[in-house]
Amino acid sequence: MAYPSFVKLVDVGPRDGLQNEQHMVPTHIKVQLVHLLQDAGLKDIEVTSFVSPKWVPQMADNLEVMAGLQRKPGVRYAVLTPNLKGLQAALPSQPDEIVVFGAASEAFSQRNINCSIEESIERFREVVSAARAAGIHVRGAISCTVGCPYEGEVAPASVEKVARLMRDIGVQHVGVADTIGVGTPIKVQRAMEAALKHYDLSEVSGHFHDTYGQALANTLACLQMGVWQFDASVAGLGGCPYAKGATGNVATEDVVYLLHGMGIETGIDLDRLIDAGQFISNALSRPTNSRVAKALLNKRAS
Ligand code: HMG
Ligand code: MG
Repeated sequence: MAYPSFVKLVDVGPRDGLQNEQHMVPTHIKVQLVHLLQDAGLKDIEVTSFVSPKWVPQMADNLEVMAGLQRKPGVRYAVLTPNLKGLQAALPSQPDEIVVFGAASEAFSQRNINCSIEESIERFREVVSAARAAGIHVRGAISCTVGCPYEGEVAPASVEKVARLMRDIGVQHVGVADTIGVGTPIKVQRAMEAALKHYDLSEVSGHFHDTYGQALANTLACLQMGVWQFDASVAGLGGCPYAKGATGNVATEDVVYLLHGMGIETGIDLDRLIDAGQFISNALSRPTNSRVAKALLNKRAS
């Protein structure tokens, strides 16, 4: 089996990781987290969201976070923009990439972005065309590609439909998300295959929450298909406010350990990444969710 020789990881910790925090995380901590991630070698970082502050108060300092960044050449800074208002608010901060986020489940679409799947695509259409006219790369995220907190199991055909709709409006890449972490390898492969009906291998990524502890297995299953781009969250932070009970993304440290152990390059320095994870875990007064970070920190201490 030929595994990819290089994997690109997008750290979504500053966005997905922090969006669900109940207490406001100070802006300077968010900025520092991004700096530590880029110092660890991350070349793609999801920084914040330009969403309604009534819906997600934690992301209300989006402009301040973006303004506080000391950008490193070669690093792509992404932000979420659910509608034209979000894109227009984001543009002055010059994101390199914007993310439109839809769902393969109607109920989740309604709960998360307050519209149907069809309506979301119509909203995204104008966002995508304005972003691309401004030379900004457009990624799409498809939530609930294997399971939905409101509808239960989700069929691959629903994923395929949203991937097709996103392709039709000019979304350049799709992330196949297991929002609530219920997926297991074969189900996740089916969801990924559905997206691959409309996108090339170089245009898809996996985004796996680790609620049921399956995210590394699901990552491996996608690597076996040739998928070489994944989202992960430093220290395994995160969750979606509209997917109650779902825990964070798979920890970036754990994915890096898996990949390096398989001889797959990431360009990431695991030790420095662990330092970034310790920084944010200390700031949140909480132990890391990364098994690898725990093991290596114990080793450091002994
Ligand atoms: P809405 O209430 O239907 O929007 O929300 P609206 O157009 O009717 O406007 C209502 C109010 O919101 C107005 O303000 C607008 O100006 C304001 P008011 O007149 O009442 O003062 N508004 C905005 N404000 C700031 N930025 C904006 C914006 N748009 C409208 N962009 C909306 C629709 C999409 C805005 C809302 O539902 C929302 O913000 N949802 C975001 C939910 C979210 O961020 N979820 C988490 C991210 S997705 C995720 O985590 C999943 C992912 O990780 C993949 C996976 O794991 O599945 C990506
Ligand atoms: Mg997510």
